[in-house]
Amino acid sequence: MNARERMLAACSCQPVDRPPVWLMRQAGRYLPAYRALRTKHDFWTLMRTPRLAVEVSLQPIRQFGMDAAIVFSDILTIHDAMGAEVRYGQGGPRIQPLVHDAQGLDALGAPDVDGALSFVGEAVERLCTALHPDTAVIGFAGAPFTLAAYLVEEGPGKDLTRLLRLARNDPATYGRLLDLLAGGVVDLLRMQLRAGADLVQIFDTWAGSLTPAQYEELALPFTRKVIERLQPAGAPVILYVRASASRIEAMASSGCNGLSIDDSLSLSAARRRCPPDVFLQGNLDPALLASPPARVRELVHAMISEAGPTGTIVNLGRGLTPATPVEGVDAFVQAVKEWAP
Ligand code: CP3
Repeated sequence: MNARERMLAACSCQPVDRPPVWLMRQAGRYLPAYRALRTKHDFWTLMRTPRLAVEVSLQPIRQFGMDAAIVFSDILTIHDAMGAEVRYGQGGPRIQPLVHDAQGLDALGAPDVDGALSFVGEAVERLCTALHPDTAVIGFAGAPFTLAAYLVEEGPGKDLTRLLRLARNDPATYGRLLDLLAGGVVDLLRMQLRAGADLVQIFDTWAGSLTPAQYEELALPFTRKVIERLQPAGAPVILYVRASASRIEAMASSGCNGLSIDDSLSLSAARRRCPPDVFLQGNLDPALLASPPARVRELVHAMISEAGPTGTIVNLGRGLTPATPVEGVDAFVQAVKEWAP
């Protein structure tokens, strides 16, 4: 069974020789090879230049041999495709202009994904040429709610006050904003699937800050619309939301095929709470990758035993940070490869 077959088998809860493995944010700043490229090119240039984006996606595959590569891009490209300016700097990304009301929304257009973000499709196509049929390719986008958080809130320390105020005081504009973003997300994910991506992941990082009731009212319906519109493509869709423990049944009701869960619950607890045909991805705390390699190996093996090998994709509970030691990533991936039933 090659890596791609293993990923696709896990996504349909079919038997595997061992569970597949990849890590959220595996392409990026913890890798010396990435930092070397970043001294020559800024982040936007890396994303926008398919040759360079593919190189960044391939770096961890060459070094550690994960079962899947993720296209090198960012969830905030959608805002750029709406005519906003996205700047990545110290203290997190900033978007200008922010949207606070109906007029603000009217000043931005609907995301022109096919026109403004064709480089994403091209990067996926080249990545598939480099990796297929052996290794799987993952496409991704942000969920409408998380994208709205970046477009409405000031700065990265999001308490979501403005977004919740907009939802409460002007539900029509809130709904229009999220529908507009949902349309862009559908276009972006379809573009990546057309280009050959084997599966896609939707990141709803900031929806984890909502109460379960708010999640069901303000985030889930828009994610559900996105997933419904992707269904005809037939590719697996993974949904990631932080604070999974308090909303996992709701997440599973989105129509997604798999759930990427954080470390707020165990994979076995998640399994008990989800329908049997939903696969699970997760969920080691990335901070634990700083443990000695032998400890990382133990943690990974314990996680697989607890989750069971079928319908499981080994991953982290949230993305790697720039401080993650390369040795920890290596130990994580190799531990999965060594696992035997
Ligand atoms: O390996 C991969 O996953 C690479 C592709 C990828 C990036 N961002 C590249 C990136 C993916 C899947 C993302 C998703 C993303 N982007 C999310 C959801 C996942 C999560 O971690 O919660 C969010 C919320 C963003 C928004 C974003 N983009 C932030 C908050 C930041 C700055 C801080 C950070 O986490 O790095 C970015 C910039 C960004 N996106 C970088 C990379 C490699 C750093 C760019 C650099 O300075 O070199």
